[in-house]
Amino acid sequence: MQRQSLCFNQRILSQCSGARTVMGERYAFTAEWYDINASMIKRYQLLFYSADNTVEMFDIKNRRLFLKRSKCERVKLNDLYIGAIVNIHSRQLTIVDFGDEFTTKKLSSIKEKTFGLIKPDCVPSKMGEIIDRIISEGFIICQLKMVQLSSKEAAEFYQEHRGKSFYEKLVDFMASGPVVVFELTGDNAVTRWRELMGPTDSSVARQEAPHTIRAQFGTDVTRDAVHGSDSQEAAKREYDFFFGSKASNLRKNTDRIFQNCTLGLIKPHAVLDGQAGKIITAIRNAGFNISALQLYNMEKANTEELYEVYKGVVAEYSSMVEELTSGPCIALEITGDGAHSLFRELVGPHDPEIARHLRPDTLRAQFGVNKVKNALHCSDLLEDGPLEVEYFFKIMDS
Ligand code: CDP
Ligand code: MG
Repeated sequence: MQRQSLCFNQRILSQCSGARTVMGERYAFTAEWYDINASMIKRYQLLFYSADNTVEMFDIKNRRLFLKRSKCERVKLNDLYIGAIVNIHSRQLTIVDFGDEFTTKKLSSIKEKTFGLIKPDCVPSKMGEIIDRIISEGFIICQLKMVQLSSKEAAEFYQEHRGKSFYEKLVDFMASGPVVVFELTGDNAVTRWRELMGPTDSSVARQEAPHTIRAQFGTDVTRDAVHGSDSQEAAKREYDFFFGSKASNLRKNTDRIFQNCTLGLIKPHAVLDGQAGKIITAIRNAGFNISALQLYNMEKANTEELYEVYKGVVAEYSSMVEELTSGPCIALEITGDGAHSLFRELVGPHDPEIARHLRPDTLRAQFGVNKVKNALHCSDLLEDGPLEVEYFFKIMDS
């Protein structure tokens, strides 16, 4: 134990003199893990070595090595930013801070956060394409959810424009249907997201910046497809509005009866592979209505609850739990008469290999890798649909 302690002190010391190793670089972070059994938050120093993609962890309180340097295929430098949730050997860790000067200098400017929103004109039919565009421009979507704003909430969100000629029209529009809100991380995220959106007036955008989102998906100067924060301060304020403690006041649409619905859950491998937008577009193109959507980072306990019926029945049970806790997943409520069986048909056979042979148009054939990484989970039985939807959009959410 003494040796480990010494080793820990040496590491701390060596960070002060820079973090370049012979090959590649070493980045340090402070990470937290909620230990359910002990009901307490534990803090770790997490080191990431870019040369060989290995991680190493030190328990900060006990000042000792916690995880010896080892490969962690799923974790990439890109996944490590403040607020990120990473899964390391079945532990869900939240990165709460940079751990040394080198990492702070190197990453703080390129890991900027911003807030964005897909407006009601584009949510039903274009959100998949817009999400896909955001991902393909290299942004990481760290939070994502669908929300229905009341007029009062829309008025509050856009209060800086109160008194302007377009304000009332804008407020009515913003409350006219669900919006999809998100937090983006990336190099220079605030500026780059504004550039990707394009000029406010969609027709001006089509003239001056034809490749921007507003040029491609906007209608006019009010129905302009997307919103983006114009500064880091605005990003923080707007993010708090939708995801902070205040957000609990937003109309959650959870006090309802869950019926005529089924669950589609885009699995972490597909999300991390940047396929979420394409999957949402494919679901939409097949004629389904997505009435709720939210990104979750599943804890092991929640996943075991969701997959309870497969325990002892399906051979891949443990790997399924591991997959679903390995990164962000996106839950979708699919609504409509007959949605359950029709959606299962679209998702396709459990095994993507079989799907590619027998049903090449299905989602699993197109986006699945193997039986565990099979792109989506969907509700098995008709009666499971509303229960699983309620699990995500009411129980998990509270
Ligand atoms: O969204 P952006 O920051 O580009 O523009 P803004 O000037 O902050 O305006 C906020 C929103 O008000 C725009 O996105 C439009 O939806 C709406 N607007 C409008 O309806 N009529 C205008 N003349 C200007 C803006
Ligand atoms: Mg603005």
